[in-house]
Amino acid sequence: MNSDRLARYASKLEQLRQKGRLRSLRHDAGIDFTSNDYLGLAASPAMGAALIAAIERGVPVGAGGSRLLRGNHAEHEALEEEAAAFFRCERMLYFGSGYTANLAVLSNLPQRGDLIVHDCLVHASAHEGMKAGRAEVISVPHNDASAIDGAIRSWRATGGMGLPWIVVESLYSMDGDRSALPDLAEIADRHDGFLFIDEAHATGVHGIDGIGYSAELEGRDNVIVLHTCGKALGAAGAFVGGNRVVCDFLVNRAGPFIYSTAPSPLQAACVRHALATLAKEPERRVRLHDLIAFANAQFSERFGMPGSGTQILPVIIGDNGRTMRVAARMQLKGYDIRAIRPPTVPVGTARLRITITLNVDKPTIARMMAELAKVIEEEAA
Ligand SMILES: Cc1ncc(COP(=O)(O)O)c(C=O)c1O
Repeated sequence: MNSDRLARYASKLEQLRQKGRLRSLRHDAGIDFTSNDYLGLAASPAMGAALIAAIERGVPVGAGGSRLLRGNHAEHEALEEEAAAFFRCERMLYFGSGYTANLAVLSNLPQRGDLIVHDCLVHASAHEGMKAGRAEVISVPHNDASAIDGAIRSWRATGGMGLPWIVVESLYSMDGDRSALPDLAEIADRHDGFLFIDEAHATGVHGIDGIGYSAELEGRDNVIVLHTCGKALGAAGAFVGGNRVVCDFLVNRAGPFIYSTAPSPLQAACVRHALATLAKEPERRVRLHDLIAFANAQFSERFGMPGSGTQILPVIIGDNGRTMRVAARMQLKGYDIRAIRPPTVPVGTARLRITITLNVDKPTIARMMAELAKVIEEEAA
């Protein structure tokens, strides 16, 4: 009986297995070439000490309710104020994760009659948000500002009356390349629209003081920025930064904010520590950028093509099975390197997503690149 009810899931899983797309969980064993803990903060003793200090000053583990009820803790408010000052925007709203923040923003701020034009490579959580909202949605080719402009123009020409929204990442999570933000801001201004920038992978690493690539745009009333706290900031959660009116609207309308228990106040305390560390220890970013430059040079030497130039270095292999085999062989050699397959990335572009963090050093990067080049060559033979 039970097995009949479960058969439809089992057969889907079997189909995924046959296509080389079956996912499963594994431990974080091996040298870290896969996490987003870019600044090495997640397991740092100082982060642990900040957590203990927060417990000792009485910060609770659980918020006990939604932010709109008893769950609005002083720690959340202090964090949001400090984050607004750090990222230089009018107001910050703290969510439990980047996923829920993207969902909240994109399903609520663009309204019926508006148009969202998004880069085809934006994160799954942005897609969820756009799908749940009421605006018309158009996908355009990757990093093509003129396609964005063209899509807005033809929508207006055919009677589009609402506001246009441009949705991009500043640094693409699976490709490691950047958006041309000034051009996009100009297009948003020209069409009297909004620009929404997901800074998940730039926050803490790039831009003035680690503010991200939107440092110069933040604070404009038509720019809304997402900064996640589970990557370079080493903790969890995400900020939506923008105009006060926009944040007040989200507090009143965004289901993921209203109907969910507030993030742990202890988590908020850890993010406060991470922001203070970004300001106090710029040498972390300097060290990371030195490693990034080294890793990109190693990449081009070993693979005969330029790297992305950032801390995210995709090695595109194409075939799902071969990508899995290369990843498995590197894992056996002690490197935590993961295969990323469709649908996370476009069909035919299965890849290893290598990240550079302060959890590794130059000799380890050089050794890993040499072994990876050898394994890829052997698998291609
Ligand atoms: C570009 C981008 N946006 C949003 C998210 C979601 O953030 P979080 O992990 O905090 O849910 C991710 C996570 O990988 C991401 O890469």
